[in-house]
Amino acid sequence: MASIDFDLLKKLYAQFSRTEESSKTPDILEPMPFAMAEDDRRYEMWEETGKILLSKGEVAAFTIAGGQGSRLGFEGPKGAYDFGLPSHASLFRLEARRLLNLGAKAEHPIPWAIMTSPLNRKATIEHFEEHSYFGYNKDSIRFFDQGMLCALTPEGEPVKDKNGNYAEVPDGNGGCFRALAISGTLAWFVEKGVRFVFLANVDNALVKMCDPAFIGFLASNGNAPCAVKVVHKRNAQEKVGIFAFKNSKPTVVEYTDISDELRNKTFEDGTLAFDGGNIGIYAFRTDALRKISTMELPWHAARKKVEDIENCWKFEQFLFDAFPLIGQILPYGVEREDDFAPVKNMTGNDSPATARQMLGMLHRSWLEKAKVTLKPRTLYEISPRLTYAGENLSQEIFDRELGRGIFEFPA
Ligand code: UTP
Repeated sequence: MASIDFDLLKKLYAQFSRTEESSKTPDILEPMPFAMAEDDRRYEMWEETGKILLSKGEVAAFTIAGGQGSRLGFEGPKGAYDFGLPSHASLFRLEARRLLNLGAKAEHPIPWAIMTSPLNRKATIEHFEEHSYFGYNKDSIRFFDQGMLCALTPEGEPVKDKNGNYAEVPDGNGGCFRALAISGTLAWFVEKGVRFVFLANVDNALVKMCDPAFIGFLASNGNAPCAVKVVHKRNAQEKVGIFAFKNSKPTVVEYTDISDELRNKTFEDGTLAFDGGNIGIYAFRTDALRKISTMELPWHAARKKVEDIENCWKFEQFLFDAFPLIGQILPYGVEREDDFAPVKNMTGNDSPATARQMLGMLHRSWLEKAKVTLKPRTLYEISPRLTYAGENLSQEIFDRELGRGIFEFPA
């Protein structure tokens, strides 16, 4: 076990346990408008640029998978979760196969970094081992652990478990930058000549790993450090973090941190001013990742039950706190139907059922575009072996692959 940073814990307890309210000047929030990428006349140019970068080996993938997935209630790592598709593909398998499809077209393997935590690293690697790495070259994948931090009792003492060991928990997804550097994975990227890194949450069933157009968009925009995918909010009240400027710096504003007035504010054309939902999909220049890894992201405290002690302190860093620090981000608008089907909860919104439904509808729409004759009220799953984003489909392929690489399931 890595040594515990008691100085940091002491500092955080002192910072968060102060009860007096600080007299902070109110934040100034301004909208961050965005355009839908596919409507832009440069879209094909971005896609071509991304494909060239992939073929030169300058693009890598980075999946953050160190979370505990407590809302889903699945015992194992979330990436290993079978969310009920006819193929029984896990989230990791879908991600691996999409990368393999792109890598084959680019004729260059795509380096893939996967951040785990000491709590799920072993099980994550076992999942890959059991499935022969889904056909991925083992040498092109690197697993590494994020940092952990001990929880504190309400009085600020380190919590211990029944065996007398310190109760450590992952230090939040913002720990990814530090862990990337400390683990040597950033150096691994640099050594391979990687200039652009696609970074995404593990739990999105539709994630277009290393999306060429998205990478090309970042690469074609001067020296911008980072691009972020955003979706339109479903409505003003949707509980989603949005991209905006806070005190002139780009940031993600959480639903709870925006007033009703701003939430409902519209531009002259009636569209929401504070739009641009964060879907956990980013592209960074490798240089920017190096810079961020040396910066101190702010800490957040939550009060949770740990080892049967109510109201313990848990400290975390958030990935999106890197954005104000790097100062510039480029929003890239996408349709959520194409890019975003999160698996967060057991039931209801953002659950296995909604992810299956969204994937099934998207894949059906790809087949419809390819003029394939389909059954009504039926959804389809298409293996990423056959297509990355709907290309190369036809009636002939459908007839050949039904029951092999293409599956039907009820709507
Ligand atoms: P979430 O905030 O949805 O957390 O993570 P979670 O752990 O997956 O699920 P809950 O909240 O316990 O139900 C968003 C992404 O950040 C990663 C997750 O693995 C997911 O890909 N993450 C989160 C980390 O890598 N490390 C962390 O410490 C926390």
